[in-house]
Amino acid sequence: MRKIGLYVHIPFCKSKCDYCNFVSFCDVSKMPEYLNCLKKEISMYKSKLGNDVQLYSVYIGGGTPSVVPENMMIDLINHITKTFGKGRYEFTVECNPGTVDLSKLVAYKRAGVNRISIGGQSCNDKLLNLIGRKQTYKDLINAVKLVKEAGFDNINVDMLIGLPKQKLIDVKKMLKFVTSNDLHHVSAYSLIVEGGTPLDDKIKMGILKVLPDDEVVEMYDYVVAYLKKHGLNRYEVSNFAQDGYECKHNMNYWKLGEYLGVGVSAHSYMNGTRQANVSDIKKYIDSINNNQLPVISKEYLTTREMKEEYIMLMLRTKDGINLKDYKKLFFTDLEKDKSSEINFLLSNGFIKIENHHLKVSDNSYYVLNSIVAKLID
Ligand SMILES: C[S@@+](CC[C@H](N)C(=O)[O-])C[C@H]1O[C@@H](n2cnc3c(N)ncnc32)[C@H](O)[C@@H]1O
Ligand code: SF4
Repeated sequence: MRKIGLYVHIPFCKSKCDYCNFVSFCDVSKMPEYLNCLKKEISMYKSKLGNDVQLYSVYIGGGTPSVVPENMMIDLINHITKTFGKGRYEFTVECNPGTVDLSKLVAYKRAGVNRISIGGQSCNDKLLNLIGRKQTYKDLINAVKLVKEAGFDNINVDMLIGLPKQKLIDVKKMLKFVTSNDLHHVSAYSLIVEGGTPLDDKIKMGILKVLPDDEVVEMYDYVVAYLKKHGLNRYEVSNFAQDGYECKHNMNYWKLGEYLGVGVSAHSYMNGTRQANVSDIKKYIDSINNNQLPVISKEYLTTREMKEEYIMLMLRTKDGINLKDYKKLFFTDLEKDKSSEINFLLSNGFIKIENHHLKVSDNSYYVLNSIVAKLID
């Protein structure tokens, strides 16, 4: 039986954050039609894939899925579980503070959702305001309280580091919030200044400044050490979890497992082929209404590209590259193919090989890109 991850993109947000270039809109007038199209796209894939496909995980992300009215979201979730079958698989919904209430969360849980990811970002209201996030620390406190009250135990909080004007003390406060609420998973993202965003404009105009690299490094090191001390281990560069709470959906991406993405701008990786959906919501709706899959690009990965992707993604994880799996996947021995490069990296302490796993050393994540480049060139 083939197992796939399913990603469903909800491209609506209450407001647009200054740093974000994900496909999402504040105009929700097309939401009802869009959700119907999502259901239809899921059914179209089910007919195409047949009965030998089972879900490994579901991730409803965005955008802000929690802005969708309760009845519409439950209808979508029910459609997924009816189409592919209800199971014990991980089922995540992303929620933003300020957009959840108890009724919605209880309804998600009843419908089969078992993991909630909350966009916390920061506990400092001034910083949240500075990056155009229309939420407060109080909203985050309330969101976590409600998610727990609804009976969820598998909860992630996203946090940002490297924000303009952010201080180490802000990061400490956020981490304290996570551990005092006994949350089992944290995604700590370093801010990327995306070209063309309002944040990028403000930086170019000198209104805001990016944080110096050494300050961001100090924050990241603090996050790693603090979370480790509290039992949340780094299992990928930006992801930390207590044992057993690692996000299965993301692990599947990193291991080059198959996944299907539906909705605007969603990506899929199936049968060695990567494909992307259109990003324009009108074109997406028109395509589905014409019974056409809204795929805009398809790319068959060569063995070389697959190897590169595998090395790049697996080295980001704590388990690194399983050399036995690599042999089975690519019918070749990485240790032999790259023996001189591996010896160089080993003798300089950048990597280690333990139990057939080639991993980046704990303090070498800053040179990850150079390590990857050595192994794939
Ligand atoms: C696309 S959002 C979707 C979830 C939800 N809407 C939220 O904002 O939390 C997923 C994560 O990506 C992060 N993100 C978006 N733009 C980013 C950027 N430019 N740099 C780093 N993280 C970013 C968000 O802060 C959020 O934690
Ligand atoms: S709420 Fe999330 S998806 Fe929406 S604009 Fe902000 S970061 Fe992007």
